[in-house]
Amino acid sequence: MKTLREVGIAGTGHYVPERIVPNSWFESFLDTSSDWIESRTGMRERRFAAEGEACSDLCLHASRRALEDAGMTPDELDLIIVATVTPDQLLPATVAFLQDKLGASRAGGWDITNACTGWLSAMMSAYGMIAAGTIDNCLIVGAEVLTSIMNFQDRGSCILFGDGAGAAILKADHPRGRILYTSSGMDGAQWEAISRSAGGSKRAITHEVVEKRDHLMALKGNDVFKFAVGKFRDLMREQIDALGVGYDDIGLVVPHQVNIRIIESALKKLDIDMDRIYINLDRYSNTSAASIPIAFDEARKAGRVKEGELISFIAFGAGLGWGSVAIRW
Ligand code: COA
Repeated sequence: MKTLREVGIAGTGHYVPERIVPNSWFESFLDTSSDWIESRTGMRERRFAAEGEACSDLCLHASRRALEDAGMTPDELDLIIVATVTPDQLLPATVAFLQDKLGASRAGGWDITNACTGWLSAMMSAYGMIAAGTIDNCLIVGAEVLTSIMNFQDRGSCILFGDGAGAAILKADHPRGRILYTSSGMDGAQWEAISRSAGGSKRAITHEVVEKRDHLMALKGNDVFKFAVGKFRDLMREQIDALGVGYDDIGLVVPHQVNIRIIESALKKLDIDMDRIYINLDRYSNTSAASIPIAFDEARKAGRVKEGELISFIAFGAGLGWGSVAIRW
């Protein structure tokens, strides 16, 4: 990969809504149990946004924290990319609300809709532009209010998700968090595995759609499970090979927080143990595009990210699509 300029991570931040929803909450209206959810997923609780708390509100808190961490002010930002599948509204892009609320007067911006891989997609886009010299910095935010699209009548999906936001600032020639490797892929033929089939240009939202709950997220959990285990392994192996390192050289893996059983199954055939995998899905469940940036910011602030270490990000999800990034902290 030819790089014109090096790109590092100048700051990170995250925000989760105050309301904590334990597994037991679902027992009151679904045929499920706390034990089932925890044993099949590793999830114990998640955060739900307050009434009226929109995606851009979550973005705002996470972004301010990332800016503070970077020692930057909003007017220094060149570009903002928001990764989300739960925008404030369908038009305009959520980044417009964020740019206004932040007062990032010089920044351009756009949204990326790539679900659980979205924040890494944002990182790869910003990386390319900064490396090429088109911009000097970019705020990348992964944020979701998944409660707005969850089907609370479907016990196989609604127990899996939560709301939250994570952000980072990428900067030209910043010495820390240098991006060393990026990779992405997609198998669009599998789009039905995770979808929200109505509400776009293909199928409008009608009374019938709402009755069938097709305006909400639908999952083929088993299919995704199998895909995710294999893809996690492949991405890890490809990253190691491309970097010319061994598993021992990886300081920390920050994976998409999908399901502890998926992560543990994937690791079985890889020479890396769980103590080098950062997990917070027990507390936040799956927050899609926000999952990796929340986990990375937490890991940093908990002292789990050491200077000079190789950090690996692995994501997969709706599309079905995937992405992988390695940085040196
Ligand atoms: N509570 C109790 N029982 C449940 C349940 C729940 N919340 N959800 C499903 N079940 C039942 C199923 O109906 C099934 O019952 P049956 O055997 O009578 O048919 C049984 O539990 C086993 O279901 P299965 O789907 O095989 O369970 P699983 O071990 O694969 O776990 C998921 C289900 C959804 C937790 C798991 O497949 C998963 O995490 N998949 C990926 C999730 C995903 O797509 N995330 C988003 C993409 S990033």
